[in-house]
Amino acid sequence: MCGIVGYIGSKRAYPILIKGLSRLEYRGYDSAGVALLEDGKLNVFKRQGKVLDLTNFVADNPTSGTVGIGHTRWATHGLPNDINAHPHTSGDGSITLVHNGIIENYDILKKELIKRGHTFKSETDTEVLVHLIEDIKEKSGVSLAEAVRIALNEVHGAYAIVVISPEEPNKIIAAKKSSPLVIGMGEDEYYLASDATPIVEYTKNVVYLEDEQIAIIDRENGLRIISISNKEVSPYVQELEMQLEELEKGGYEHFMLKEIYEQPRAIHDSFRGRLNAKEGWVSLGGIKDYEDQIAKANRIIIIACGTSWHAALVAEYYFEDLARIPVEVEYASEFRYRNPIIRKDDVVIAISQSGETADTLAALKMAKERGATLLGIVNVVGSTISRVTDAGSYTHAGPEIGVASTKAFTTQLVLLAMMALSIGHKRGTIEDEKFQTLLDELEALPEKIEKLLKSDDYIREVSTIYKDAQNALYLGRGSSFPIALEGALKLKEISYIHAEGYPAAEMKHGPIALIDENMPVFVIATHGENYEKVVSNIQEVKARKGKLIAIVSKGDTMVREIADHVIEIPISDEFVVPILATIPFQLISYHIAVMRECNVDQPRNLAKSVTVE
Ligand code: M6R
Repeated sequence: MCGIVGYIGSKRAYPILIKGLSRLEYRGYDSAGVALLEDGKLNVFKRQGKVLDLTNFVADNPTSGTVGIGHTRWATHGLPNDINAHPHTSGDGSITLVHNGIIENYDILKKELIKRGHTFKSETDTEVLVHLIEDIKEKSGVSLAEAVRIALNEVHGAYAIVVISPEEPNKIIAAKKSSPLVIGMGEDEYYLASDATPIVEYTKNVVYLEDEQIAIIDRENGLRIISISNKEVSPYVQELEMQLEELEKGGYEHFMLKEIYEQPRAIHDSFRGRLNAKEGWVSLGGIKDYEDQIAKANRIIIIACGTSWHAALVAEYYFEDLARIPVEVEYASEFRYRNPIIRKDDVVIAISQSGETADTLAALKMAKERGATLLGIVNVVGSTISRVTDAGSYTHAGPEIGVASTKAFTTQLVLLAMMALSIGHKRGTIEDEKFQTLLDELEALPEKIEKLLKSDDYIREVSTIYKDAQNALYLGRGSSFPIALEGALKLKEISYIHAEGYPAAEMKHGPIALIDENMPVFVIATHGENYEKVVSNIQEVKARKGKLIAIVSKGDTMVREIADHVIEIPISDEFVVPILATIPFQLISYHIAVMRECNVDQPRNLAKSVTVE
């Protein structure tokens, strides 16, 4: 969603802002803009479209200022056009700001401001905030920082803002509530951004602003942080673990393809120091102190959105089967608006790649108020969810830039598998022999995925045949059913083909009506407890002339006879099949999207990190 950047220092701000905005492109956006302070004047440039459109628009205009802010907008209030793009400027042109979030009471504030003589150019909630700051500053004659502080006490909703003014040209004011904001600390210079990706090439020292905090950055006096209730806060400086190379495509055509191919390495990193099959142990340091509590939990509630929700569905199988603890999986967006029964001996696990998803965060906060223990399975180090949970484990997938989640998903699965194994072992619900087998199975995953990726040429050939499909069905049973959902989501989001995931046996209760010779049906039919049942389900597809693309265990013969195409995965325990079966589905959706000339890394309308409700 919206991306924010800011810079104050001795360098030219414009190239830093533009590069920063390009780094944030992956979040998803439809317009971009910058504002620069230059010789006591404010220059604002904004444009619908991509960052490249903005740079073409700016062209030869003066851009030598050393203080500036920038924004990529993902439209919420008002169409994606030049006027609604950020930065937004006060009526008298003395203040400009960029904003990520939603000002919920903007309509009431706007009406009051109109009564007081303000006129508005855009349809955005953000413009209301900048007028409110101007109104307070004018009326009370306070500093910009104080006007921002007073204004933020009047607004409801979510915000990360960065504000500048030619009247205080050596300052940047920033604040946040529910939307992320990071401050990079250089040598007499400061960088601001929605996440660390625009900052890492300049400095590794960062401060994550907390909710309802305001940063006052002064060229002379450096960084000062206060709360919106005007209490001093000492900045907590942390070191970034991110490497710059992780943000580049590294020779791949798209980030998504790079991230698919990175999975053996990412899974290996997830295991590091946590699993050793030879020595027969698994241990997650981040939740060690909470293991007893999890082992004794009355129930585990897992909350997540999108792909992370699919990981939660697989985890339900893992925890119930291995640790014998009842699990409930909830869409965070639904959970937060019911009145769920949460008890003190419930453990709530939030799964999130970004660690910033607004619905997941809000659901977590509600669970916290009701006394549950909160754990996080998060990829982005230092993200909000990692900070608001009592404990948790990072997936260590590294930055995921493609909007479609790939390596974040498979590392979530391995982490949840490790967690279930470790808790099951502690509870004595897994026999020693099975425990050892599953450790071996997990540890063998990176090598097996390497092998599987070698089938990519064949998978591309198969994908070519289905690139013009209008619909697709994905089927699976047991812990492979969530992988059918994930396969369908991947195809939908990047190739815009309508796809549905179903438990294979459910097909005859409705979706079978859709099957004809034009319907590709992707099915997971690997050896295991449900194998024969799935074979019967796919016979039903074939009998209705559906096109069958089956993921099978290596050496399978029965499904090969029925299916139009088979993609083999290495012979494995059912426990790791969801992880392996995910890879061909990722590659199929990737190739189909490329063949359909879709924007694979930044699909239309989507944002990488959904920071609004
Ligand atoms: O960052 P999160 O894991 O919390 O994000 C949740 C979803 O928005 C995300 O998984 C989304 O569904 C992706 N586009 C899936 O590829």
